[in-house]
Amino acid sequence: MTEPQPTAIHRQDYTPPDYRIETVDLEFDLEPSSTRVKARLAITAAHDRSGGARPLVLHGDALELVSVALDGRVLGAGDYRLDDKGLTIAAPPPAFTLDIETRIDPAANTQLSGLYVSSNVFCTQCEAEGFRRITYFLDRPDVMATYRTTIRADRAAYPVLLSNGNLVEQRQVEGGRHVAVWHDPFPKPSYLFALVAGDLACNEDRFTTRSGRDVTLRIFVEHGKQARTGYAMDCLKRAMRWDEERFGLEYDLDLFNIVAVSDFNMGAMENKSLNVFNDKYILADPEIATDADYAGIETVVAHEYFHNWTGDRITCRDWFQLSLKEGLTVFRDREFSSDMRSRPVKRIQDVRSLRARQFPEDAGPLAHPVRPDSYIEINNFYTATIYDKGAEVIGMMQAILGQDGFRKGMDLYVQRHDGQAVTCDDFAAAMADANGVDLGQFKRWYSQAGTPELAIEGSYDTRAGAYEMTVTQRCPPTPGQPDKAPMHIPLAMGLLDAQGQDIRLRLDGETADAAAPGRVLAVTAPRQTFRFVNVPQPKALSVNRGFSAPVNVTLAQGGAERAFLMAHDSDAFARWEAGQQFATDLLLRRAGEIQRGAPTPFDPAFVEAVGQILRDESLEPAFAAEAIALPGEDYIAERMDIVDVEAIHSAREALRQAIATSLRADLERIVAANASPGPYTPDAAAAGRRALRNVALGYLAASAAEAPGTADRLLAAYRAADNMTDRMAALRLLVDLDGPQRQAALDDFHDRFRDDALVIDKWLALQALSALPDTLARVTALLGHPAFALEKPNKVRALIGSFTAGNPLRYHAADGSGYAFHADRTLALDPINPQVAARLLAPLGRWQRFDAGRQAKMKAALARILAAPKLSPDVYEIASKSLA
Ligand code: ARG
Ligand code: ZN
Repeated sequence: MTEPQPTAIHRQDYTPPDYRIETVDLEFDLEPSSTRVKARLAITAAHDRSGGARPLVLHGDALELVSVALDGRVLGAGDYRLDDKGLTIAAPPPAFTLDIETRIDPAANTQLSGLYVSSNVFCTQCEAEGFRRITYFLDRPDVMATYRTTIRADRAAYPVLLSNGNLVEQRQVEGGRHVAVWHDPFPKPSYLFALVAGDLACNEDRFTTRSGRDVTLRIFVEHGKQARTGYAMDCLKRAMRWDEERFGLEYDLDLFNIVAVSDFNMGAMENKSLNVFNDKYILADPEIATDADYAGIETVVAHEYFHNWTGDRITCRDWFQLSLKEGLTVFRDREFSSDMRSRPVKRIQDVRSLRARQFPEDAGPLAHPVRPDSYIEINNFYTATIYDKGAEVIGMMQAILGQDGFRKGMDLYVQRHDGQAVTCDDFAAAMADANGVDLGQFKRWYSQAGTPELAIEGSYDTRAGAYEMTVTQRCPPTPGQPDKAPMHIPLAMGLLDAQGQDIRLRLDGETADAAAPGRVLAVTAPRQTFRFVNVPQPKALSVNRGFSAPVNVTLAQGGAERAFLMAHDSDAFARWEAGQQFATDLLLRRAGEIQRGAPTPFDPAFVEAVGQILRDESLEPAFAAEAIALPGEDYIAERMDIVDVEAIHSAREALRQAIATSLRADLERIVAANASPGPYTPDAAAAGRRALRNVALGYLAASAAEAPGTADRLLAAYRAADNMTDRMAALRLLVDLDGPQRQAALDDFHDRFRDDALVIDKWLALQALSALPDTLARVTALLGHPAFALEKPNKVRALIGSFTAGNPLRYHAADGSGYAFHADRTLALDPINPQVAARLLAPLGRWQRFDAGRQAKMKAALARILAAPKLSPDVYEIASKSLA
């Protein structure tokens, strides 16, 4: 490689900024291919000048500089220096005004960072470092300024002009143009700046805050789509009320705007009072959105709204602290969704996704701490670790401090740091100080990467009436961290008696009133024994209830004990978990037998336990749906020494068939009993019935070979569906069955929804997820379909991302065709949108987990990517770390 390799920056090198920017006055003259931006910055030196003036280094990227003036004096080429990192003024005065004019090309901005055009709408994405693609600036989160933004644009093409804060004035000007002026009274970092201009329709509503502030709420979308914004608006109002009630946090302006755009790198963005969303997380009606889509909208709308306090009012000092706002805000949106829906079901779904995305990340070459120590490209660090493990860390604090103690900590955090850019240490200090506890050891969760492993053994001493549980913890080595110190792990557990009741537990040395039916133990040492006294003979041990800590547990439990927990544990999560671990044991054993060519029958106790769940009318349907669904292929893969995707797939299919064969009558009854009762409603209870019915239908379809009418039945279910959830469920099963029914349904789906980009994404994804052997050929052909475009992240994720990350069986084809495809697509996408290209790369980095043949092919694909000229820092970082 001839080009200089991108370099890493380190958390330890943080220094406060040399200059402050107090106010920013922006003027945009919008034209798609040539937009003029004037910025007037009021700048003061942050240091005393006894040691002389320090240079002012403003960031800039892809900017054309038109002019720069200091205190009104136009600077000549000798007064500043321009390079590819930005603009430097060697020795500016202690306080001055800088006027900068730049020209940018939003229409050519395919990276979708900075100011860009999406379907004729101008919009911005400035997190993390997009503002420097608009003007030269101290583009770092600890520089907080108040912004005044003037937008000038063609009135007919862009009737709606939006920015942060309050609208100060709007008027028409000559040449068919108009002007809007916005002012945001709250100081904010540049990454929270936003601008939108376009011809948009709007759904308007109101919300009165607890203290009586009347807030106007607006959701802007493409014309004709207003009717699909009702659910998002309802979520927004519920989120606003919830944050007042749960955390005492109230909205702080008279206006809150959301804009939905179709081209967006991520889910959504919490710009102050002007959230910009991927329209996937706004638009919904029963025809086009599934229950999962509705739940996603509820979560993301709430998440971005909650950022107003945890992100906007209190932001991050530097990007190493990203989880300060993201982990905390994910924790908050999870609590919200748990209160709106079923708490155990939400927990189960979050743990499924943690295990599918974060645990593999933590076990691979891209493992990093929740508070990373270094990065090359910050956009690569919007990861499952920062977001989801970060949320687990916050959740563990709440488990340790209790909900009231946690609230005290939040109150102190807001009181201390409102208006500041702070660190994860500041957050932990507020929690510790408000509760008078020491979180010193606990904070290793921020600094140590890797998923801790807990080996647990229990033994009962009949004579003494005592139960001893010994816990050994170990955190595997991760890049740059060969040795780990013991963590503080809050471990929720209980013991069940023969009737399935919780035994009251008291530790040796505790007084009798400490006894409680379940305990949260503080696991802090490498090896620790907990001795419970006055214990009657227990029947089963239940550990990590509610998934109280994000760890892997090894606990030797037989099928009978797991089945007992499935039926009786007082903790719903633990009942689900017992079933998952039981199924995992069976699937791992069967996968091994398949490799040796000698399968033996499955333990009937598991199928019987599934049958009991199907017949237990007292269970919430949404929970029953989760409890009978087998662990995913990637979870089984994580548990195998050398991943064998084919053996895993066959083992899982065989267990599905065994369940279908033994429980056919129960499954048919569930399908019949949970048929759609009337018009579709997206509430959790109705969604739960659909989920249960569709899991049952999935089992019945698993026996396609025995029941030849299956494809016809699925096609009929597809045709009869009156909502997208049921339609997709039938089609998902049908795409795995080769035949005319599959094609008929796919064609019908395409023709019915050809004009709905979001639904066509589902059509692309379903085909990419198919288990049929020709899936890669079909995916390759779909790259040429008019509905596909590399410029559109939603399309890329739907077709390429679903195949590479969601179809292990076909992606890991032994001939390496999936890897070659992945490398080709990465190289084609990188020059267009490096952020999205880099994010898709993770599956190739898991090569260590596969057999020698696949390893060689995966590494070759990575090496081919790395050898390409002009690679972005984004893809370079992921590919090089993946090969290291
Ligand atoms: N802060 C946004 C959120 O709510 C994510 C934005 C990330 N953007 C990016 N370019 N990496 O989670
Ligand atoms: Zn966020």
